[in-house]
Amino acid sequence: MTILVTGGTGYIGAHTTVQLIEQNHEVVIIDNLSNSTIEPLRRIEAITGVMPRFYQGSVQDSQLLQQIFQRHNIEAVIHFAGAKSVGESVADPLAYYHNNIASTVTLCQTMSHFNVFNLVFSSSAAVYGNSTKVPVIESMTTQATSPYGRTKLMIEQILEDLQMTDSRWSIARLRYFNPIGAHYSGLIGEDPQGLPSNLVPYICQVALGSLDKLSVFGDDYDTPDGTGIRDFIHVADLADAHEKAIRYIANHAGLHTFNLGTGRGYSVLEMICAFEQASSKPIPYIIQPRREGDIGKSWACAKRAKSMLGWQAQHNLQQMLQDAWRWQKHNPEGYKQPLLGQPISLRMAS
Ligand code: WQD
Repeated sequence: MTILVTGGTGYIGAHTTVQLIEQNHEVVIIDNLSNSTIEPLRRIEAITGVMPRFYQGSVQDSQLLQQIFQRHNIEAVIHFAGAKSVGESVADPLAYYHNNIASTVTLCQTMSHFNVFNLVFSSSAAVYGNSTKVPVIESMTTQATSPYGRTKLMIEQILEDLQMTDSRWSIARLRYFNPIGAHYSGLIGEDPQGLPSNLVPYICQVALGSLDKLSVFGDDYDTPDGTGIRDFIHVADLADAHEKAIRYIANHAGLHTFNLGTGRGYSVLEMICAFEQASSKPIPYIIQPRREGDIGKSWACAKRAKSMLGWQAQHNLQQMLQDAWRWQKHNPEGYKQPLLGQPISLRMAS
């Protein structure tokens, strides 16, 4: 299929583009590069041998979108493009509502105009808010607790209304838990701009020596060791789920919602220990007070994705952290340092 990937130079977008190309899809990317660069495109080519078609611009630019749909026989869309920092969204909610929601409405209007009704939406476990029940099930109450999470929830609702009104739509809403890791080649990975807010990229920079120690936000949660528990999932497993979702909605009209997690949670202290084993690097840390808005524990029930998409996470924690470290070790400046020579390590395709 020919698939439009919005936000395709981002962390999950680039990994999903690799997976789509390896599954013989043709990929067209639109990205405004507000939180990424074009370097991932060169890395994608180094991994797959294919340079995806790329358009720099905003999904809010309806003229550009129309141009893309006129030039390419787009059959489906995976919509990653959007601002995604919880903290930033609290500081500037209007920017988040405008950027994330307006772009989605423009995208859906353009898709409908060109009779394209297959859409995979990048949602998030953030829509469950402070749900204290675990494992988290798709039918549980959604109640986002940040403007970022509310944009995801509002977009989910928009898509539900759209599909109710026009049954030609076939939509998958994918709720990611905690994506970590990197492609095993070490060529693409997570490249947060500025100080990382998420756990694993922060740990990677402590391991590099760029940051001196990790702050562990709270050790007084109702968990075995007192630190927060999350369902960490390899970004390659997420990419696989997107390709399976694209194929699923091609044959199943309607609205479908899936948790994407491993179904297993690890605490912050367990992650530190596992990373030290995976990297042979010590990770000094200091216990700090809880971070505003954090919840104690969250992990997914991913049975629906398994039974309906035939998908489940394949990578274990050691692989996730080894792959995360390989990316960070070989790219201490992230994508700032352009690709030189051959890919770092390409495991033979299994
Ligand atoms: C994980 C655990 C922290 C950093 C966020 C977004 C969510 C989604 C995934 C987009 C928690 C602890 C973290 C640190 C720490 N993003 N931690 N020290 O908060 O579960 O989810 O990313 O969809 O929307 O909210 O991920 O990696 O920030 O935190 O102790 O320096 O690590 O308290 O328990 P989170 P995280």
